[in-house]
Amino acid sequence: EKGGYEHFMLKEIYEQPRAIHDTFRGRLRPDQGIIKMAGIDQNSERFLNANRIIIVACGTSWHAGLVAEYIFEDMARIPVEVEYASEFRYRNPVITENDVLIAISQSGETADTLAAIKLAKENGAFVFGVCNVVGSSIARETDAGAYTHAGPEIGVASTKAFTTQITVLMMIAMKLAKEKGVFSESKYHELLTELEGIPQKVERTLETNPLIEKISEVYKDSSNCLYLGRGYNFPVALEGALKLKEISYIHAEGYPAAEMKHGPIALIDEQMPVVVIATRKGHYEKVVSNIQEIKSRKGKIIAVVTEGDNTVKELADHVVEVPEASESMTPLLTTIPLQLLSYHIAVMRGCNVDQPRNLAKSVTVE
Ligand code: F6R
Repeated sequence: EKGGYEHFMLKEIYEQPRAIHDTFRGRLRPDQGIIKMAGIDQNSERFLNANRIIIVACGTSWHAGLVAEYIFEDMARIPVEVEYASEFRYRNPVITENDVLIAISQSGETADTLAAIKLAKENGAFVFGVCNVVGSSIARETDAGAYTHAGPEIGVASTKAFTTQITVLMMIAMKLAKEKGVFSESKYHELLTELEGIPQKVERTLETNPLIEKISEVYKDSSNCLYLGRGYNFPVALEGALKLKEISYIHAEGYPAAEMKHGPIALIDEQMPVVVIATRKGHYEKVVSNIQEIKSRKGKIIAVVTEGDNTVKELADHVVEVPEASESMTPLLTTIPLQLLSYHIAVMRGCNVDQPRNLAKSVTVE
């Protein structure tokens, strides 16, 4: 059932090219210049006339929501707020009939997310679900939705659910951008074609696995780890840190790279590995100067860079290359090495990768 892999998590990491492809298959049609998503087509007025989009989720799904905030605002120019479902539901939020709430949930059973949906509906908002499990409670409770087609995710640590959630949210944003007239025909076509090519780039990114295994060997006994990224890759830093802590039990924190100097920089010494996402199309120069700051404090730098990068190679202790992509699509690539890093470190530490202590696959109680 693990298809020759030692753990479900590794199998599911490797399934991502297929899972992303399955998620856009039948929807993305670059040749016709369209994205077909019934749940959006039938409700496009609700989205286009929305005051704002509120995204609610928990954990990794919340990180996908953060990536979506960058995508929606950048592409579709619709204001977005991303909320932890647990905080949103209890803080007496201002919700109006002109709000669209998007709930993201792999299992479709997360209690806090379900409660946030009910609250939004009571207040007249339009509620859209992005779930993986067909027929789940959240899928049934929402007004409309779009499934991720990741297939069953067995490993407790979410991997392919995350990248397929981003894929669905990106298609929605692109569709809305097109309908709003933000994108020209040619820009739209270009992005559709690029998204279609992402599974192949994910496949190539997976080839970094042996290198990541070597890097993992070096840092497996660390007691702390920092993850830094900017823009679209700030949520990826959060997700990388979550993956490491939940399966290897190493304390890890994700930060927007520029926040480092407002506190976390105090932690950096020769014992501290810092994973930095420094792809070429995302405030690259600024991230390079963050890397210099880490280096001068003797931190150990593991950098995720764009293929062919030379500048960071000079500075970092280890570099992992991902294929070139538009900035908005880089999270689908930069996430992969971080998943593999946490996987190998957890295995080397003898942890139960698929069933980490104290965690459940679906959190049906608050
Ligand atoms: C992390 C993880 C959790 C879930 C969270 C939400 O790897 O799996 O953080 O992402 O419990 O679950 P869903 O998406 O099922 O609502």
